[in-house]
Amino acid sequence: MTADLFEFSLVKKRFAVIGNPVAHSKSPEIHQIFAQQCNIVLDYQAIHVDHGGFAQALRNLQARGFAGINITVPYKQNAAEQVDSISKRARVANAVNTIKFEDDGSMYGDNTDGEGLLRDLEKNLCQSICDSKILVVGAGGAARGILEPILAAKPEMVAITNRTAKRGISISNEFLQYGPVSWQSFDQVSELSFDIVVNATSASLTGDIPNLPNQIFAPGSLAYDMGYGEQSTPFIIWAKKQGAARTANGLGMLVEQAASSFKLWHQVEPDTGAALLAICPNRMQS
Ligand code: ATR
Repeated sequence: MTADLFEFSLVKKRFAVIGNPVAHSKSPEIHQIFAQQCNIVLDYQAIHVDHGGFAQALRNLQARGFAGINITVPYKQNAAEQVDSISKRARVANAVNTIKFEDDGSMYGDNTDGEGLLRDLEKNLCQSICDSKILVVGAGGAARGILEPILAAKPEMVAITNRTAKRGISISNEFLQYGPVSWQSFDQVSELSFDIVVNATSASLTGDIPNLPNQIFAPGSLAYDMGYGEQSTPFIIWAKKQGAARTANGLGMLVEQAASSFKLWHQVEPDTGAALLAICPNRMQS
């Protein structure tokens, strides 16, 4: 090994996204793009964690010297239970998507999902949230991360719907303290129309769509899938057929939330516009 390579292997910090499934994740690619932009050398892997093995996996990665971890489906709520200290927004969400392993051996948890979604909607897609009617579909860790930031942007109303009513009602009640949010069953949603419909379910991962009623899109509305894939997601295909004026997959949010994680770990702000263009040149068509 040359002196340069030896030095390189010593300083290369290690990061990962952990989840189940996780092989599809574009986070490794995004963090490498950011790293190149900022002249940082890092290793970033996607690591599959079996159900029941999350807490142990976290400890193993910490023991192996990883510097930070992103958490994806279905472990964001588990992650909130494992960290030693937590940001306010992650505590409100009760879900963590970013962990920093501190030098003193403790784990700090944050949630950058809401910031990522808002930046994508408002900056990349020029979609105003203020005074709009929003439907959030889903009641898991992904939905929890975006609800308070959406409500803080002063929408006219936010409806939450979910396949399992109990979980949807519970999350609606919990977030009522942050703004005008209400539970609506799939049937009740058919009485309403929305300016923004956010699919925060993990249904896309199995090629499914939530069983939503037709005709829920207001004129000029945006259908936003927090999921993504090489092709249009089933939700986006469905939304186009239902008359959504615009559609967007979750790659913009993914890049924006990754930038916030990157900043927490490296104290520098990467160029998200360039990264989004690199990973998805034709985003609005997909
Ligand atoms: P995440 O961290 O991605 O939110 P999660 O906590 O496991 O993962 O939550 C998954 C969400 O997607 C839930 O709202 C789930 O609905 P249930 O509460 O009824 O389980 C939703 N979901 C997953 N697959 C779905 C499908 N095929 N149709 C509708 N909703 C689905």
